[in-house]
Amino acid sequence: MKGMLSPSLMCADPLNLQADIETLDALGVEYIHLDFMDNKFVPNITLDTTLVKAVKGVLRNMKRDIHIMAYDPEQFFERMDIGSGDIVSVHYEACEDLHSVISAIRQTGASPFVAISPDTAPEVLKDYLSEVDGVVVMTVYPGFAGRPIVEGSFEKLAAVRKLLDSSGRKLILEVDGHVSWDLCQKMRQCGADLFVAGSSSIYAKGLDLKDSVPKMMALIQ
Ligand code: DX5
Ligand code: ZN
Repeated sequence: MKGMLSPSLMCADPLNLQADIETLDALGVEYIHLDFMDNKFVPNITLDTTLVKAVKGVLRNMKRDIHIMAYDPEQFFERMDIGSGDIVSVHYEACEDLHSVISAIRQTGASPFVAISPDTAPEVLKDYLSEVDGVVVMTVYPGFAGRPIVEGSFEKLAAVRKLLDSSGRKLILEVDGHVSWDLCQKMRQCGADLFVAGSSSIYAKGLDLKDSVPKMMALIQ
């Protein structure tokens, strides 16, 4: 599967979001990564449901890649207007009944992904591989941009890739957290398909998306 980019909007200039979305769309970026946090599952609040919903109205070709770092994520689906074309990632650690959350996402027409935090073992994913379209491996502790990569992340990416391929289904491996200029190719070699690009790459200080995005797209092929 070709390498795809999902720029993390929480890393953009909050006073310039629509301009960035339009630039990214025009550059042919496949997904826009929208982090939603409840200040409980992670000690932070970033993009709110109103913004996540509003983004849908300004996309031309780009699709939403919604990362819900919240307990009981189903309560937010309607307010985000999730539906066909969206990736909706929910955390294994935040769901009482993950099977029912996955099927609730499926019923909206969106594409369900399961995200696992750094301290969660890849094996937990086994029970869900027949129901999802992909998984998200968090290579930082979730909740904030600019965090360092967690020790053992590359081995974990390779282990999850192996697990996904053993399912016999074409499943997407998304990597989220510290996807940097110097580490993204190693993440690709470990089997990542979809790369969340934030403050460690295209949104690093002083970069222009028009230059940094094509550069990152080339690195992850
Ligand atoms: C962190 C978020 C990521 C993060 C990626 O919890 O899920 O989207 O912002 O950005 P960097 O590159 O700063 O890790
Ligand atoms: Zn994220």
